[in-house]
Amino acid sequence: MTTDTPFLRPRRRDLLAGSGALTFAGFTGAGERQAPTTLFPFGVASGDPLSDRCIIWTRLARTPLKADGGMPAKPVTVKWFVASASAPAKTLRRGEVRTRPGLGHSVHVDVTGLAPGQACRYWFEADGETSPGGLFRTSDPASDTCRLAVACCNNYEHGYFTAFDHIADLEPDVLFHAGDYIYEKAAKPGLPRQHIGGECMNLTDYRRRYAQYRLDPSMQRMHAAVPIIASWDDHEVAGNWAGMYDKQRSPVFAHRRKAAFQAFYEFMPVRARPAPGWTALQLYRAFTFGAGLRFFALDTRQYRSDQACGDKTQRPCDALHETDRTMLGAAQKSWLEGKLATLDGGWAVIGQQVPSYRQIVHDSEGPWISMDKWDGYPGAQADFHAMLARYTKGRTLVISGDSHAHYLSELRTDWGDPHTRFGMELTVTSVTSSGDGNERRESWEPLSAQNPHIIDHHDRRGFCLIEATRETLTIQPISFDKISQPGASALYRKRFEMT
Ligand SMILES: [Fe+2]
Repeated sequence: MTTDTPFLRPRRRDLLAGSGALTFAGFTGAGERQAPTTLFPFGVASGDPLSDRCIIWTRLARTPLKADGGMPAKPVTVKWFVASASAPAKTLRRGEVRTRPGLGHSVHVDVTGLAPGQACRYWFEADGETSPGGLFRTSDPASDTCRLAVACCNNYEHGYFTAFDHIADLEPDVLFHAGDYIYEKAAKPGLPRQHIGGECMNLTDYRRRYAQYRLDPSMQRMHAAVPIIASWDDHEVAGNWAGMYDKQRSPVFAHRRKAAFQAFYEFMPVRARPAPGWTALQLYRAFTFGAGLRFFALDTRQYRSDQACGDKTQRPCDALHETDRTMLGAAQKSWLEGKLATLDGGWAVIGQQVPSYRQIVHDSEGPWISMDKWDGYPGAQADFHAMLARYTKGRTLVISGDSHAHYLSELRTDWGDPHTRFGMELTVTSVTSSGDGNERRESWEPLSAQNPHIIDHHDRRGFCLIEATRETLTIQPISFDKISQPGASALYRKRFEMT
């Protein structure tokens, strides 16, 4: 059922007003020209909230765009503090960690022993300086509601992170980021903003790229206000990478992948234990929120088989149907199945990266298939959908990104039969990638005519809010008419309700 009633207007929690609010000490503006001199130029972030714990993050730097952050090659002691958000003088937890120069003086603390649904304020101290404050709330499985924001694809060069300002104002329980948090490519002239440096190939490059993105004030504001569940898609590493391969099957890709994994970990508030030598970083994980909502974050890049027949939207070839081709890898697939088997009738939200619904368009000579999406892995796609249909009792929402446009699709075990619907999939549009956009893409007409399960689309930039009660799950797309300039106002578009 759809309705266009306005929904989820921005609001500020009372606790912000009473807690001295957030400050961004030492930060005066965007970009490298006004780089701050505080020890905490990237601000703070939180992530992976569970009912009793949450990761809090910061990274020390005196010269934020330098690979070593302008920091000495020795550990620095950092004190951390977590207080009740409504009574900041009341410290709930505190502790001390020593940063490592090998991890770029990044700080990840898993703050444990908290109560469900507890709103917390946190900050750090080092070398006599105090960081800006941040807010998070632990998940509250007993609550009858939950609110998630969903976003992806924030190419710095393509525009301004207006979506992140709005997400900060909305203060959802969590933001799921479906990847392309950075883009690895070299600076291109003529765009609204410019990357610093060439294409990212080594740790120095990736660290500088994350640093540039993290100096963005809208990005900092969002991270200080909202915990994030971070995943990655291709551009955190290299365009269309797949497992151990980049597009060119470059012999040095394994080294590049390690550098990209390390920089991602250093800059993201994730609960993850990197493998020795950065040969792997497990990012699939599970969460429980209110309204009976279970959230499963998947990784469709690290374990997948190489694309068949090439990387693009192209004609199929025999390799497409090779039976051992995988998208999730055996371990992740079996982990997911184990989790799904424990569902007890609530909502199952599966956060991943590339669209899993059918998007195949035929012309007079045959089909065109996007080889980088689940359509390019038809055996794995059928298995994935069969598993969801088997365990989730129709209360399934899959989330994807990657497309730089908004789509909403039914999920069916038989695409030609609407009676086989077992859930929905939301492809969230980009924060900035692909620029201002239009109401619709030219490709929408043939795509929707040949794939009637895809029921909604827009080609503006923005994000989505998802609000769940035990009875309904509401998807609210929000867009901006312009992101090539800062400060656009938000348009609340037609929303969709699952019951
Ligand atoms: Fe993207």
